[in-house]
Amino acid sequence: MKALVCILLLLETFVFVVQQQVDGGLNENEISQQISSEDGRQNPPQTDTLRAEASTDSQQYCDLGIPDIHAALRELTATVTEQKGNIRELTATVTEQKENNRELTATVTEQKENIRELTATVTEQKENIRELRDEMNKKNEEISNLTLSQVELRKENRDREIAFSASMMESGGGYIGPFTSEFTLTYRNVFTNIGNAYNPITGVFIAPLKGAYMFRVSVYGYAPTASAASIYKNEERMVMAYDMQAQDQDRLNSSNGVVLILEVGDVVYVKLWPNTKIFDDRYNRNTFSGYLLFPLR
Ligand SMILES: *[C@@H]1O[C@H](CO)[C@@H](O)[C@H](O)[C@H]1NC(C)=O
Ligand SMILES: *[C@@H]1O[C@H](CO)[C@@H](O)[C@H](O)[C@H]1NC(C)=O
Repeated sequence: MKALVCILLLLETFVFVVQQQVDGGLNENEISQQISSEDGRQNPPQTDTLRAEASTDSQQYCDLGIPDIHAALRELTATVTEQKGNIRELTATVTEQKENNRELTATVTEQKENIRELTATVTEQKENIRELRDEMNKKNEEISNLTLSQVELRKENRDREIAFSASMMESGGGYIGPFTSEFTLTYRNVFTNIGNAYNPITGVFIAPLKGAYMFRVSVYGYAPTASAASIYKNEERMVMAYDMQAQDQDRLNSSNGVVLILEVGDVVYVKLWPNTKIFDDRYNRNTFSGYLLFPLR
């Protein structure tokens, strides 16, 4: 029985010392001082026993009596309880740290997700910017194309600028006619000939492009011979300006006009009506004019 108690005591001392070193890394003297100061307050009778246990060879206690053994066991129980408390606290701390770690991991995961989303947004914005830039480049190209086509249009319009106007004589004055058959008049005094579609040598206008054209003719003369002239399109008489008075030397004047649809190469000219005559001088009393209203496809 005594041997068993001795072994128990030795074991208790060993456990106690190791525990103290684990808890605080204290040496044996410090342990004994600490024990004496703590226990001195609450349990003075045990102080000497504890100091002895901690600071001297444990083999001595194998000679101690039963009450001492009881005291040692109580102390042992108290220490174990305290250690249990420490372990509980440590476990609580570890659990708390684990919880903290979990929260941190969650936060990190969340931040990673945020970064992924931000990256996606940035990528999307980059794509948007690329698309906008492409669109802008296209618009710029369209504008430059428009400018080019405007230049083309202006060039084309220059081809469409067609207008002429001429009177009969460049100088002097006199009668033309009468002739027994129709006679093509040549209006030699040119006021305007944009596009050079009218030829003052032949008196013929040649349509340079398909379109709607306006033509006018005016005649002037003196009775009793009539004054009359017709606008021809190709071989066909279109309109006539005609005047006649019974009274000798009465002034005769007439004019007419027509809008014609012409194909490229169609010709327009004026013929004096048979057995009629016209008079002209520096007042330009007989005229032939024409111009393109608008082109047609
Ligand atoms: C601009 O004109 C060029 C040449 O005609 C053409 O290839 C291009 O598609 C045009 N661009 C736009 C945006 O209209
Ligand atoms: C125009 O002709 C008419 C006759 O048709 C004549 O009475 C008139 O005086 C003429 N006017 C001019 C300005 O020659």
